Amino acid sequence: SHQEKKYTIGFSQCTGLDLWRRTMLYEMKTELSLHSNVNFIYADAKGNSKLQIEQVRKMLNSKIDVLIISPNEVHPLAIVVKEAYDKGIPTIIIDRKTSSSQYTAYIGADNYELGRMAANYLGTTFKGNIKVIEVMGLAGSSPAIERERGFRDGIKLFPHIKLKQRLSGNWLKDIAEKRLKARTGSLADINAVFAHNDDMGVGARNVFRTLDGAGKVKIIGVDALPGPGGGMEMVSDRLLTASVVYPTCGKEAVVTAFKILNNEPFVKDNILKSLIVDSNNVELMKMQYSKITSQQVDIEKQQKLIAEQVSIYKSQQIILNIVVIS
Ligand code: FRU
Repeated sequence: SHQEKKYTIGFSQCTGLDLWRRTMLYEMKTELSLHSNVNFIYADAKGNSKLQIEQVRKMLNSKIDVLIISPNEVHPLAIVVKEAYDKGIPTIIIDRKTSSSQYTAYIGADNYELGRMAANYLGTTFKGNIKVIEVMGLAGSSPAIERERGFRDGIKLFPHIKLKQRLSGNWLKDIAEKRLKARTGSLADINAVFAHNDDMGVGARNVFRTLDGAGKVKIIGVDALPGPGGGMEMVSDRLLTASVVYPTCGKEAVVTAFKILNNEPFVKDNILKSLIVDSNNVELMKMQYSKITSQQVDIEKQQKLIAEQVSIYKSQQIILNIVVIS
């Protein structure tokens, strides 16, 4: 029967603890488990670009067959992406980009378009003057740069939207909350927030709730993760007014990695679709996702059963070997 070659896939993650990144990793592992004989080297740079450079260099020295990377910041990480590429290691960039054009494939949503979608939602859904504060992601990371640019262009079409203030929350709820608290004196006229992710949106909500009591400020976030603690739940619980879906690309990254490894045709730039979730469609979206999740659980049960049967005939085969480096 067909036996796959043993491949080593390295995955360098810019930061690993939040729900969005944990979801991405879960999707990767699920897809990896469909292949036999894979080594998976994983490193979490904890939001530190210098550490991420070191971790990628370690991977390059330990002979990986393909590199998947979500680069923390645009400029610092360009150097190792180029190093990988120059070594002839196929390099798949996901979610965040670098300034290097030397990569094998990119997978992610169009963050410029996401910013425009948020502006368009505000402009078409709410009448009256909208005075907005933008809570941005980490200054040097590509989704923050692109969402900011898209939002800026998007609001140009709506004279009733005024961008009053901007600050960076580094993608983190606590930082967004702390920095907003420090300027509460200037927030009295603000009635809308565009937060570059849902976590920072909730941080903003915590601050505005103490200011206007009734929570009248509209808050638009990004990510809209399904499941407990995710953005869909936040929208459904009215913690957020709306959220723009940001697909995690975990499955697509692994699928593309195997296409490259097996010399099959693949698409270089893969732009995944997005949409806005608000109170009008959130219950439907939640239902659809819970259906998918229960199908996923069924599939995993089936795979386990098959794996158990296989192991009766074959001696203890390692299906997925995961190495975590720091
Ligand atoms: C998770 C995250 C998401 C955001 C993405 C941008 O680490 O901050 O919330 O959409 O990264 O790269």
